[in-house]
Amino acid sequence: MDPLTLESAALSADGRALVILDQTLLPGEVKYLSLTETDEIVEAIRALRVRGAPAIGVAAAYGLYLAALGLDTEDRENFLSSLRQAADKLNASRPTAVNLSWALARMLGTAEGNRALPVAELKSLLRREADAIREEDIAISRAIGRFGLGLLRPGDGILTHCNAGTLATAKYGTALAPVYAALEAGWTDLRVYCDETRPLLQGARLTAFELQSAGVDTTLICDNMASATMAKGKVDIVLVGCDRVCANGDFANKIGTSGVAILARHYGIPFYVCAPSSTIDMSLSCGEEIPIEERPPEEVTELWYAHRMAPERVKVDNPAFDVTAHRLVTGFITEKGIAYPPFDKAFREFGF
Ligand code: MRU
Repeated sequence: MDPLTLESAALSADGRALVILDQTLLPGEVKYLSLTETDEIVEAIRALRVRGAPAIGVAAAYGLYLAALGLDTEDRENFLSSLRQAADKLNASRPTAVNLSWALARMLGTAEGNRALPVAELKSLLRREADAIREEDIAISRAIGRFGLGLLRPGDGILTHCNAGTLATAKYGTALAPVYAALEAGWTDLRVYCDETRPLLQGARLTAFELQSAGVDTTLICDNMASATMAKGKVDIVLVGCDRVCANGDFANKIGTSGVAILARHYGIPFYVCAPSSTIDMSLSCGEEIPIEERPPEEVTELWYAHRMAPERVKVDNPAFDVTAHRLVTGFITEKGIAYPPFDKAFREFGF
């Protein structure tokens, strides 16, 4: 199966539902869910049925469009006020990936900026805006893929963490986009090491699944094997995604990413972050300002085990993301090009 045919989040053919691939069932089952209610979409984002920063943004944009579609009023002020309430609900589903609030702000801005129009026209504009967010995401991933490919050589070993592939975006992914670009260019000998990514196993369940399906030489490693894999000289470059990048280049990504960055620095391996502009938050100056999602302890103690693996009542920390310091980053691969330090200046030059 070609993983690029999978749709992480799209509007149904009749335009009345958000269709998501339920990623909690992968790799065992490819099952699509058709969602219409804001509460269902909030649940799907919170439960990681749809996940990955850009895909969450696309899902939220369509979620807000569907909320608008369901509003039975011709009164523009009532319409806008109910729309804002739906946006608040969607925005509360996950805190770290800025793509969520970015997409919702863009949607609300479209409605508010055209508030003089009749409600029916506002609904059409919202549909167009959500489609644009999705289409732009595909184009952005393509561009990241092209710039990233320029950093690779045939035969390279790439290490990645979590899943920043086609499943995490509208298509192609960010950290995996260069791998798809290499495949399109006829390269057959890249090797990718996927960290399994405890506790939710996005690397094992999703990255290994999509890369293996694409015919890439894929090796799954436990998170604590990354150092040994690097020490053996198997890794030429690290490519990861991100959920929020601050103006100074500090960034949040899946828990464990900062450890990978520290290892890469230790072994002298280039560490690149693949970052669409929708994930760059110039309003935050440094990583301490990024809100980090805390998830339920059961994800650590029992979720992927046949039996609970930890004693009852043990204290558990389960931050879903960590912050990597900008000084550990070689460069950010964006759709505008590769940003090198000082990142603040480079981001501003790119117009972010
Ligand atoms: O909790 P998740 O699975 O949504 O976390 C996803 C990540 O950390 C990804 O690396 C990030 O969102 C970038 S996806 C292109």
